[in-house]
Amino acid sequence: MNTVYSIADVREYVRAARAAGKRVAFVPTMGNLHKGHLSLVHKAQEKADVVIVSIYVNPLQFGANEDLESYPRTLAEDQAQLKGENVDLLFAPSSNEIYPEGMEHHTNVAVDSLSNMHCGKTRPGHFTGVATIVCKLFNIVQPDVAVFGIKDFQQLAVIRKMVEDLYLPVEVIGADIARDSRGLALSSRNGYLSDEELDIAPSLYRVLSEAREQVLQGMSYDLVLRDALAKLAQAGLKPDYIDICSQQSLQPATTQDKELVILAAAYLGRARLIDNVTLTLP
Ligand code: PAF
Repeated sequence: MNTVYSIADVREYVRAARAAGKRVAFVPTMGNLHKGHLSLVHKAQEKADVVIVSIYVNPLQFGANEDLESYPRTLAEDQAQLKGENVDLLFAPSSNEIYPEGMEHHTNVAVDSLSNMHCGKTRPGHFTGVATIVCKLFNIVQPDVAVFGIKDFQQLAVIRKMVEDLYLPVEVIGADIARDSRGLALSSRNGYLSDEELDIAPSLYRVLSEAREQVLQGMSYDLVLRDALAKLAQAGLKPDYIDICSQQSLQPATTQDKELVILAAAYLGRARLIDNVTLTLP
């Protein structure tokens, strides 16, 4: 597996792959790879002949008081893991390559209809940063298919909407959430958790799973949410939000909606954990 750092080198690689009749899949990441990322790679390998992974910690999607500086950067380990998975190419650009004129006057892609609720309330500008970098990466790599984790449910919805609205010629695929043996969704930010916090963290998925059962049993959404907030606090998590929404619009679910997602975020020590469960009502 080669690592390239320039846009010109990725484009040259993709041009040659296309000329050889190959289908190209793309997995954008911010590195510090874990089994969740590798499951995205496996999904990409099912869908195409060539898999390109990018590693870039995108400053535009971090708020002023967030963890941009301390976000784990582990390129050598990531390269070894990707090599072990037979990834074809790693694109690891610098900020000079991606934002040569800085970010201040950069053109943004804003998916306003899905960006200002849930995680967007606590992280203003985050999804504009995500949509902008993903749009740039799509234009650099020009993949046939791109794979994202369903753990970041709102991010996936934002990317799908951007692709639809801007007619970007990419098939976007969501990959199932990878969890540890206790149900904790895998995330690079789990590395911020102490041993004690790692015992508490799986409560987020437990509470979400219980909420899903209560919704399926017909309990009112208000009651489910109140109960869930109390259980999160009792477990030692500091809830940011928990919402029962339409999978399509991410708006609060009405009695007409059948395809639902329960989205949640909670603080635990230095980490802000996010997770979700989906369900279909009869
Ligand atoms: O999910 C992530 O790792 C990032 O938000 C992404 C999609 C790579 C954009 O920087």
